[in-house]
Amino acid sequence: MARYHQLSKDIYITNREKFTALLKPKSLAVFNSNDIYPTGADSTLPFKQHGDILALSGVDQEESILVIFPDAYKEEHREMLFLKETNDHIAVWEGAKLSKQQAFDVSGIKNVFWLTDFERIFKEVMSHTENVYLNTNEHLRANTTVQTREDRFVNWCKETYPAHTYQRAAPLMHQVRAIKTKDEIAAMQIAADITTKGYDRVLKFMKPGVWEFELEAEFMHEFLRNRSRGFAYTPIIGGGYNACVLHYIENNDQLKDGDLVLFDVGCEYANYSCDVTRCFPVNGKFTERQKEIYSAVLRVKKASEKLLVPGNNLVDYHKQVGEIMTQELLGLKLISQSDVDNQDPNWPAYKKYFMHGTSHYIGLDTHDVGLWTGVIEPGMVFTCEPGIYIPEENLGIRLEDDLVVTENGLINLTKHIPIEIEDVEAAMNN
Ligand code: GLY
Ligand code: MN
Ligand code: MN
Repeated sequence: MARYHQLSKDIYITNREKFTALLKPKSLAVFNSNDIYPTGADSTLPFKQHGDILALSGVDQEESILVIFPDAYKEEHREMLFLKETNDHIAVWEGAKLSKQQAFDVSGIKNVFWLTDFERIFKEVMSHTENVYLNTNEHLRANTTVQTREDRFVNWCKETYPAHTYQRAAPLMHQVRAIKTKDEIAAMQIAADITTKGYDRVLKFMKPGVWEFELEAEFMHEFLRNRSRGFAYTPIIGGGYNACVLHYIENNDQLKDGDLVLFDVGCEYANYSCDVTRCFPVNGKFTERQKEIYSAVLRVKKASEKLLVPGNNLVDYHKQVGEIMTQELLGLKLISQSDVDNQDPNWPAYKKYFMHGTSHYIGLDTHDVGLWTGVIEPGMVFTCEPGIYIPEENLGIRLEDDLVVTENGLINLTKHIPIEIEDVEAAMNN
């Protein structure tokens, strides 16, 4: 059984209803688990479930298949789970897998079959359906050559049933997963609270001479003892110049007196990600220059958050943040008015110091699925993470929180992690 407390099955019932409402009539959809990835010999990476089957069923187990067929002739075929059959051998070596009753308790799906029945039952339902929704990875930044279990299923299905009409499940799942249910937001708050404990621990631990990986270990200690399975993404802990390397994940330098350290660290809880960035002075006191840049980033963040409101859209939002950042960089004299007047609209002048996006969806994936050109709606959860990176000064600053959009403004899930200069210094010197 999972390490986390089981979440409410209402999440999955609601998400299935939302997904089902988007299907064309006479349609069936299939979702597969991730593989357990081999690393060599008989070793594997820890299992990480796919966000789509999780969002629709909560089944956090390998080799599971979810079939949704709302117009099925037989009631028992409308929602089906196929699971690896548990047996005494598996129970001894790996621990028992989900029983049919447990799978129902987790997901709210009554019809649970063993995987050995899949091809027979699938053949029967395929004879009644017209459209088949297959799941492909359509995340804009996805960049992998690895064939997934889902990819193999897609190939098998199209080969075995070439005359059906195939549809894309991905755009529908992007819609469903972009809006979080209240129980999902509660799980994300737990991930944020555990992450906060990690930051509290590190604020007290940091001093000149400490190594970046020692700080990584402090986070991990706090994450594991609070029922997280660990980092939501590879953590970035970079002192001085390392803070300017956007994907610095070596975390293998010693921290120097006078430097600022960038932490981009968050844990997962129940498969939900938390994604936070803070910058702390190694010796507990910001220099005047560090304060100047830090305050500029914090002002951009606060102004950006005011634009993260229902009705705005993500394309306009990113442009508006770019304009706010431009004003700050002009104020800091890092760019000049003539840089701005002559800028390439596709790579504006501010990009020299702030070269990444400001916000992304967050949820079961850290860079969660959702339409990048979409309108901002209540129930969406975004990061807000402006930064200014000045490698020639060995100084990189990014500040990042996780924010729930509501009708009445944002809920900041990570607000208890010190961010104001006075609060950071007070926490470090206590
Ligand atoms: N930690 C990855 C990000 O901030 O997007
Ligand atoms: Mn981050
Ligand atoms: Mn982020």
